[in-house]
Amino acid sequence: MKVAVVGLGYVGTVTAACLAANGHEVCGVDVDVAKVRDISASRSPVAEPGLDALVADVVAVGNLRATTSCVEALAQADVSLVCVGTPSTGRGATDLSYIRRAVSDIVGALRLAAPPAGGRHSVVIRSTVPPGTIDDVVLPALSGLEGTGLRYGAAMCPEFLREGSGVADFYRPPLIVVGTTDGQVAAVVTSLFAFLGRAVHVVDVRTAEALKYACNAFHATKVSFTNELARLFRLLGVDSREVMSLFCEDTALNISPTYLRPGFAFGGSCLPKDLRSLLHLARLSGTDMPLLSGVMAANEMVVNEVIDRVVASDARVVALLGLSFKSDTDDLRESPNVELAERLVGKGFDVRIYDHMVNPAHLVGANRRYIDSKLPHLGRLLVHEPADALSGSDVAVISAGDPAVLGALLASPPARLIDLNGRLGSAIESLPGYEGIGW
Ligand SMILES: NC(=O)c1ccc[n+]([C@@H]2O[C@H](COP(=O)([O-])OP(=O)(O)OC[C@H]3O[C@@H](n4cnc5c(N)ncnc54)[C@H](O)[C@@H]3O)[C@@H](O)[C@H]2O)c1
Repeated sequence: MKVAVVGLGYVGTVTAACLAANGHEVCGVDVDVAKVRDISASRSPVAEPGLDALVADVVAVGNLRATTSCVEALAQADVSLVCVGTPSTGRGATDLSYIRRAVSDIVGALRLAAPPAGGRHSVVIRSTVPPGTIDDVVLPALSGLEGTGLRYGAAMCPEFLREGSGVADFYRPPLIVVGTTDGQVAAVVTSLFAFLGRAVHVVDVRTAEALKYACNAFHATKVSFTNELARLFRLLGVDSREVMSLFCEDTALNISPTYLRPGFAFGGSCLPKDLRSLLHLARLSGTDMPLLSGVMAANEMVVNEVIDRVVASDARVVALLGLSFKSDTDDLRESPNVELAERLVGKGFDVRIYDHMVNPAHLVGANRRYIDSKLPHLGRLLVHEPADALSGSDVAVISAGDPAVLGALLASPPARLIDLNGRLGSAIESLPGYEGIGW
């Protein structure tokens, strides 16, 4: 393929050299003359292990050139890969001015340059950009190609390489993701990266844009999580390196997809209690744990969000389907659903609660005593069947995952359904008034 790489920094140079090494005909373009001069002199303009040698090889065989002329780089190009910077503004926003300028340069160049052999050009954004950028910035700018007879499309294809291991990461990406609704652009990107031998995930544009932020936020959180614990553990005479080394051996709960599904707040008899205990230890040790304090605050915000949505609706009668903190347990200690029920009752809603594990017909022993002593006000609201809770309700707040709840919802859905964890599958998602807590 004939490829134009716009922006020859870390991402652009690695991408250009690796694509050129795999048989693509690549021309890089940069507004920085020094970078172009470096590549023309068979040197990498950025320091990355192995990149100097790779650039020298691909320049020598004629698969990589560089220029400051966008028209020259875009001549007959099937695809342009936009790799310009997206730095922070002083207020923390993403500065999209380089993206705007690069896309406008591409449009201007495509109007002047010799057209691609197939009569179609794909603009692929590899820079990290906020969700909505392709729809709101890139595609409107590309509409400047209307009337040229050139067919065009755009996609987001996030780059996952890390500086210091850029070339190695390029060849072993954790994921290849293309965000576009344009099947032809998806096919171009799939074919461009076919030599990597990896599956290509074709997704919605905003999913691809958001993914890179999710990844980087998670990586940053991992570092601060570990360092925050290490600060406290050191004060407590604990070897944090040994703790974290063992921690990482747990690939069932710790280093795994567990707990990474969007849904409702955490609760139960362990997580809130043990987090509070850590925060208390930190206070006693004279240190702060802002990340873990924030975790508690973030958890409360999830509950607040549901309350706010119910309050903002015209609902009067609320069916709460699920009361324990997760399905298949009858443990009500620190269940966020209990918090939800108490606050809705406090705000004057008529709340009916169904939970197949906390059914008044079956409650015995300690759980009966727990309800009777700690939650008598909620015990009175428990009903025997999901249909009893739904009868006359305006809104259902759903965390239960049992088939009886699904059947009752499909038989008589209320006007509004707020799904807290998506356990009932896609069947309820097509009901009018359905909304997920985070989707
Ligand atoms: N650096 C990384 O490890 C990394 C990894 C993944 C994704 N990203 C993302 O990729 C993007 C690029 O990052 P980078 O570190 O390679 O940036 P960089 O600053 O090293 O390089 C950007 C290059 O774009 C050039 N440029 C700016 N406007 C231009 C234009 N109109 N035409 C041509 N060239 C232009 C600049 O001169 C510069 O050489 C950013 O959005 C970044 O968030 C970076």
